[in-house]
Amino acid sequence: MTATLLDGRATAQQIQEEIKVKVAAFTDATGNQPVLAAVLVGEDPASAVYVRNKERACKKVGIESQLHRLSADISTEKLIDLVTSLNNDPRVSGILVQLPLPKQIDSQKVLDLIDPAKDVDAFHPTNVGLLSQGRPRFLPCTPHGVLQVLHRYEISISGKLTAIIGRSDIVGKPLAMLMGAKSSHLGADSCNSTVTLCHSRTPNLAEITRQADIVVAAIGVPKFVTAEMVKEGAVVVDVGINRTEDGLCGDVDFEPLRHVASHITPVPGGVGPLTVTMLLENTLMAARLQAETKVATG
Ligand code: GUN
Repeated sequence: MTATLLDGRATAQQIQEEIKVKVAAFTDATGNQPVLAAVLVGEDPASAVYVRNKERACKKVGIESQLHRLSADISTEKLIDLVTSLNNDPRVSGILVQLPLPKQIDSQKVLDLIDPAKDVDAFHPTNVGLLSQGRPRFLPCTPHGVLQVLHRYEISISGKLTAIIGRSDIVGKPLAMLMGAKSSHLGADSCNSTVTLCHSRTPNLAEITRQADIVVAAIGVPKFVTAEMVKEGAVVVDVGINRTEDGLCGDVDFEPLRHVASHITPVPGGVGPLTVTMLLENTLMAARLQAETKVATG
């Protein structure tokens, strides 16, 4: 068997075309372009690349992007001042504080301060709570990207066994909620999976993953998922982006798994481009929320 490649770049391109049309309609109707404010603290090269990709993607779909760069030695208070001013700025639709933040910063305090209506990462406890209750406002970008790529390749997750490896707040936990949900905005084929959320302390991990119809790797360890851990014909989604001496690689041992899986995402060019794309969708959603609030309050 040679797996079908799930092409994240092509899928992202297709979704961005759709977002571009919706952004143009919004801008025409309201006279305001959606605005994404990104905050980058310090010089972390990976973060700088991510933020640059986000700026480029904004431009492509007609979203204005602002970049607020702060030096690595900034205090929590200074960052709080910036986030407060972005919260209060009516021109700013969405706010994204790029992680990780330097050690001296209280990251939780900063993220909790972002106005939930501008929280395009969906990290705020209010947005996490809404998601857990099955009535999400913003969908977290990477988990939403995973759902989208499966949906666009017509891979149904309903009734399937999914093993997610990694229980992070950004990927594993919210993805488990979305895939196991009773309903999805993408339809009946994009929910109702039976999900096992595995992690570094899961005993007999391979026994669990070998039963799964869909395996999602989001543990941050290069080539962690080997061919022996996946059953023939399973769908493999690789969320990892690891910088190694041999270059960029995912959490999946890609080459051997190409001959085991029915479908597989490559790294790069898999889930990554979709994460950025779903951020654009959330920024448009945030702009709509603010336009509605303005109408409601006069
Ligand atoms: N750093 C790595 N991934 C992310 C993400 O999705 N959002 C933010 N804000 N920072 C990140």
